Amino acid sequence: MYKVPKLADYSAKALDAAVRELLSALDQEALAVGSESDYKAFRDRWMARKNGILTQVNELWLKGAPKDAKKGVGQRVNELKSKVDESISATEARLSKGASASKLSADRIDITLPGIRRAIGAEHPVIKTMNEIVSVFRNLGYSVSEGPEVESDYYNFEALNFPPNHPARDTQDTLFIAGQDSKAQRDRLLLRTHTSPVQIRTMERLKPPLRIVIPGKVHRNDPPDASHSPMFHQIEGLAVDTNITFGDLKGTLDHAMKALFGSSVKTHFRPSFFPFTEPSAEMMVSCFICGGSGKRGSEPCRPCKTTGWIEILGCGMVDPNVFEFVKHNGYDPKKVSGFAFGMGADRVAILKYGVDDIQLFFQGDVRFSQQFG
Ligand code: PHE
Repeated sequence: MYKVPKLADYSAKALDAAVRELLSALDQEALAVGSESDYKAFRDRWMARKNGILTQVNELWLKGAPKDAKKGVGQRVNELKSKVDESISATEARLSKGASASKLSADRIDITLPGIRRAIGAEHPVIKTMNEIVSVFRNLGYSVSEGPEVESDYYNFEALNFPPNHPARDTQDTLFIAGQDSKAQRDRLLLRTHTSPVQIRTMERLKPPLRIVIPGKVHRNDPPDASHSPMFHQIEGLAVDTNITFGDLKGTLDHAMKALFGSSVKTHFRPSFFPFTEPSAEMMVSCFICGGSGKRGSEPCRPCKTTGWIEILGCGMVDPNVFEFVKHNGYDPKKVSGFAFGMGADRVAILKYGVDDIQLFFQGDVRFSQQFG
């Protein structure tokens, strides 16, 4: 192993030879470093303040040099210092590069292996039904509009021609937000009981002509049973233009029912009442389970209760009193007319898929939802 020699001869030639010998030892030792502990030993052997090779060079070569050789020795010693520095950092870099390369190769993954497939559940039958209904109306040129589920009294009732304290409000058993008593009645918040408030919100936002469908969640204070849920889903429709007639309403809804339930279903309208439509109707479709006969073989047909008809939605011509609330945005009841309808999406899903309890929709069991793929 290299040992710093004492110098007897301080000639340039002798100095150069001594330097060359030292540097070749440095190179060899640097090359031999193969591990972290080798590296530490190497660094200390060359750099240690106490008895490191550089310290020895200082002692043996510089201090012992005669006056006239000091300068030349000093220069060489300085160069040696920076060479040793360089060699030590290069060795350190080489080691850490090797370490990260071996870590990389240890962590190597096979990207051609198949991945882990996560179960993604199933599209919920109610959502699926809503999407189907929406797409029937999209194909007729309708757009989709949405609104908040926490709604004000004004949009849910007043602007839909349910005057404050009018008994028509009792037809929708409302869930009110607590602590609203200090507000004016029309500003008090509630959970919307139907999607109809979005009719008003959309007419405030967009001028006529208008054709929209409004899918959404609604709430009523109904105790849950096989056909009721305090939360359910509706799809609303609204068409406003000049000269919209009840004939347009019938033709549009008849087409939509045939698209949803099959081209052989018939529709039937009978008079009804909603504060925001006049005239109003309930629409029935011929039972697509029993084909309208009321019987399945010798058994009575349950979905239509043997009547051959299934009640599917409420509808009517937009009441002029409703247009009065949005007249400022171009809805002058003397100039425009329109029709509206609203249906329960959960009910349509129940009928379409033959589900016998609405509660099944909201229990979140994926085995249930997967049956409708
Ligand atoms: N909003 C009514 C309901 O929930 C349904 C409806 C909508 C009736 C539009 C007529 C027109 O009962």
